[in-house]
Amino acid sequence: MTTRIIGTGSALPSRVVTNLELESFLDTSDTWIQERTGIQNRHVAVTETTTSLAIQACLKALEDAGKQPEDVDLILAATVSPDCTFPCLACEIQAAIGADQATAYDINAACAGFLFAFNSAAAYIACGMYRNALIVGAEVLSKLVDWTDRSSCILFGDGAGAAFIEEAEEGIVSMLQGANGKKGMALYRYEPPILHPFLKQTTASDDAGRSGYLEMNGQEVFRFAVSQVPDSIIHVLERANWEKSEVDHYILHQANARIIQSIAKRLGEPEEKFPMNLHAYGNMSSASIPVLLDEMNRAGRLKRGDKIVMSGFGAGLTYGATALIW
Ligand code: ACO
Repeated sequence: MTTRIIGTGSALPSRVVTNLELESFLDTSDTWIQERTGIQNRHVAVTETTTSLAIQACLKALEDAGKQPEDVDLILAATVSPDCTFPCLACEIQAAIGADQATAYDINAACAGFLFAFNSAAAYIACGMYRNALIVGAEVLSKLVDWTDRSSCILFGDGAGAAFIEEAEEGIVSMLQGANGKKGMALYRYEPPILHPFLKQTTASDDAGRSGYLEMNGQEVFRFAVSQVPDSIIHVLERANWEKSEVDHYILHQANARIIQSIAKRLGEPEEKFPMNLHAYGNMSSASIPVLLDEMNRAGRLKRGDKIVMSGFGAGLTYGATALIW
């Protein structure tokens, strides 16, 4: 027994922010952003929240799968930008959609979060603990980035993507995930300090790096991605006993077009096999893979029997890949 995706859904905030709009308050340009990243637009949550986007994406995935909320055994939500620390996003979704039978909790593996949640749910299903799962990646990173820092804020966008998966004869063939905590400071966000009666007044040096904003060493993340993702893909292909040429679609985390092009080149695979939507949405962290999956599914670009490799990487640093038959 393995696990198959039988429904997908996604949700995006209605407000679109163009590169030209960023030019109006940042020392940047549409040309620089497009050349270095491939990004043209991103959606920014103004009235929406992480929870509302996640709920919408989940309901669409259930509808696509032809399932009711009470059918769901497990909800795993991947996010680094929940609206509240607790209760977790997955429990909020459970309550909102009425999935009363489901176990629900969150996973934080940053941009690899959807993939980690997906693999974890598949492992539960394989061992017989659950029969199905609703997996969602949801982010509102616009509330965590410093909108005066041109090197980071231009990269990100908000959104949510979900998939309903269940036990099946054919589906996931191999999975891999890993972490390198020693490189954690390449991409991080600390909570800003909160004073309480037992804590002495903090100094500027205590607070260094604890601005509450996302902090990133872009070049280090870039180097990590272009070496670790091809390695992860090669490993899952070996475990699946697939040749690279058999793969129909490589659905990768949508961080930067140059990263994806470089991975395609390292693998020696044609770029056409690496669909991209980051020009329209920027980097949506854990939401990027499921939103792309949903777009391809709804556009009829995924045919039963297609061989797919999904791969993500993110803060942690974390990485993972999954080979599956659609
Ligand atoms: N507009 C104009 N100039 C800029 C901007 C901007 N938005 N941002 C940086 N610059 C300038 C820098 O100040 C620098 O100027 P200098 O040469 O005068 O010092 C110059 O551009 C080059 O800066 P670099 O940081 O070297 O640019 P690089 O080519 O590395 O591109 C980028 C930066 C796009 C962030 C790249 O490193 C990258 O994509 N890294 C991957 C990180 C990533 O995708 N992170 C996303 C989150 S992680 C994840 O999803 C897991």
